[in-house]
Amino acid sequence: MKKIFVSMILCISLLKASADEGMWLPMLLGQQVYNDMVKKGLKLTKEQLYSVNKSSLKDAIIIFGGGCTGEIVSNEGLIFTNHHCGYDAIASSSTVEHNYLKDGFYALSKDQEIQSKLTVQFLDRIVDVTKEVEDAVKGLSWAERTEKMPDVFKAITNKAADKENGLAGRIYSMFKGNQYLMYVYKTYRDIRLVGTPPESIGKFGGDTDNWEWPRHTGDFSVFRVYATKDGKPSEFSADNVPLKPKHFLPVSIKGIKDGDYAMIYGYPGGTNRYETSYGIKLKNDIENPSLVNLRDTRLKLMHEQMIKDPAVKLKLASNYAGVANYWKFFDGETKQLKKFHTYEEKQAYENKFAAWAKGKAEYENLFTEYAKNYETWTPYSKSRQYYNEGILGSPLTAFAATLVKLEADMVKTGISSADIKKSIDAAAAARKKYLVAADRPSDEKIMAAVCQLFYTDIDKNQHPIGFYEGTKSVYGDLKDDATYKKWAKDVFDRTMILDDTKWNAFVANPDATILQNDPAFSYAAAFSKNYTMKYLPLYTAFMNKNAELGRSYLKGVMEMNPAAAAKMYPDANFSMRVSYGNVKSYKPRDAVSYDYVCMGKGILEKYVAGDYEFDLPAKQIELMKKKDYGQYIDKGRKDLVVCFITTNDITGGNSGSPVIDGNGNLIGLAFDGNYEALSHKIAFDKDLNRTICVDVRYVLWCIDKLGGAGNLIKELKLVKQ
Ligand code: ARG
Repeated sequence: MKKIFVSMILCISLLKASADEGMWLPMLLGQQVYNDMVKKGLKLTKEQLYSVNKSSLKDAIIIFGGGCTGEIVSNEGLIFTNHHCGYDAIASSSTVEHNYLKDGFYALSKDQEIQSKLTVQFLDRIVDVTKEVEDAVKGLSWAERTEKMPDVFKAITNKAADKENGLAGRIYSMFKGNQYLMYVYKTYRDIRLVGTPPESIGKFGGDTDNWEWPRHTGDFSVFRVYATKDGKPSEFSADNVPLKPKHFLPVSIKGIKDGDYAMIYGYPGGTNRYETSYGIKLKNDIENPSLVNLRDTRLKLMHEQMIKDPAVKLKLASNYAGVANYWKFFDGETKQLKKFHTYEEKQAYENKFAAWAKGKAEYENLFTEYAKNYETWTPYSKSRQYYNEGILGSPLTAFAATLVKLEADMVKTGISSADIKKSIDAAAAARKKYLVAADRPSDEKIMAAVCQLFYTDIDKNQHPIGFYEGTKSVYGDLKDDATYKKWAKDVFDRTMILDDTKWNAFVANPDATILQNDPAFSYAAAFSKNYTMKYLPLYTAFMNKNAELGRSYLKGVMEMNPAAAAKMYPDANFSMRVSYGNVKSYKPRDAVSYDYVCMGKGILEKYVAGDYEFDLPAKQIELMKKKDYGQYIDKGRKDLVVCFITTNDITGGNSGSPVIDGNGNLIGLAFDGNYEALSHKIAFDKDLNRTICVDVRYVLWCIDKLGGAGNLIKELKLVKQ
């Protein structure tokens, strides 16, 4: 196994890259990939792309927050990322009076920058730990291996940890567990908000335009990383100073042409390009439609309240955006998978594989086993989605479900009262946090709606025992909406979670029966226990078996076709990757052509005064009508270029990634993918796949001309010709 792996890495280095598919490991760029990059327009050396000892491009790329990418653009630790990546930090530093989400914000000097709870991580180094991992699990069954793996990882990362310097390692499984790489990161904890456009720019087009081209969104925000005077990570402190980075990206305002080289560094979160036909069928038939249906319901109910009240909007905005983003994604994903006939294509490939595997003990039964595994799990898949995306989609229910742990502690025999107190304190702290974001009107409606959907859509045998019968006996006919509304109102009226007096009495005198009789808790616990006791073990077994089969399948695929193996890159898993390609127009469907850029005039065409998604700041309209674009104008088009598209292979997690020209300069920020290729996590389409990027000239125009923050422009290293 290992031998194949070593030769596979060599193969990667020898590979002949095809189209612009590929999320490459920057430290393992083979000569062929590099040559192909040069052919496409790269002017940098391999050492400038990634170097162990010297500063290189990779040193300017960071993990931003929990799931985005950012880049360093000045010698004083200035960060560019997407607006939707800074969204939560922007919303939580806003109030109805100082509404930065709505009105935008720029720090005109460093003392105006706003503290946040964000962290950023710089990549220090990458180490191949495959041998250490495999040695530690040698001879174990898959189940034993899976169980032991976290400890094996911990033992290896412990050796790499250096608290004093903020260094910690994380191990990534590559090629479905055929290789293990440890990335060591340095985490900085003093990150400050420096600037953001108003939401009408940063999220212009809202969910209507999300995942679509043409797109006119100024999806950027600006932060700064601070460190101690000697450059070490630390918590927020007034004594901290802006970090002097190892490398920062110069910013090119020269403009772009169709066909120009474009390279994207960043942290793609997840792909599954070797998904089987079985997985696609389950996704298309059950998982995606269920998720979309439930999110649709929740989003409508949240939106109703958000448009009524700016305070509610601020409270729910970040959560709403996240739910909406992947609601549209999963809907589009299934549509595109069907359009591309991905299921049938996978089936054909699997048949080819099965023919090759005949007589090879290691692979012969793979697809019989896949079939069996999916057959066993499929009957429960819908109720899992309805639990996670429905029942837990009510924030009160989700919080109440976390109290199941408290209940378990309270009824445990022999537990000390000190330990119970610890558990209660943790619950009280979590409750406080929950209450900050709680909005009763939307949540109460969500609770009623999802509880009813679970009743009508899920097999009765999979309902929690007794819950619906009990509800019926008190509140009425289970086919009637009014029943659920009455019930939910009662839950909200009576729960101690929303009642300080009752809660404080419980905390002062903890008694498990009080918790068990709480209506929010008893509802959440009924569904939570039903799921975790009956279905979660089945799901875990299903996933573990899939992982085991997946590892063999991928190994078999590489053996079957070494030439194809040579063109492989590991699936995205939120480890740093580089993708290269070109700025490029496309034809989404018959008789339609899309330009590779969109412009200021398009913003004005889309503008609808007072609209929730297409409104604009008055000053923007004024400056745009005057075409006051200064040095940011596109000379050829005589307009402001807002966004552009490239052929790069990226996915969620890459948000905020720098789009870099052939000379290593920043030309834009990647922020989205196009609708016509939303199958991209599973199947990359070389004709239709595009990355949507905000042009850095639009970013700078917003900061400078609209925002008046010339101080930030002065910090940058502008490349003008
Ligand atoms: N679809 C984008 C992504 O996942 C997020 C765009 C955020 N904007 C929005 N309107 N939801 O990277």
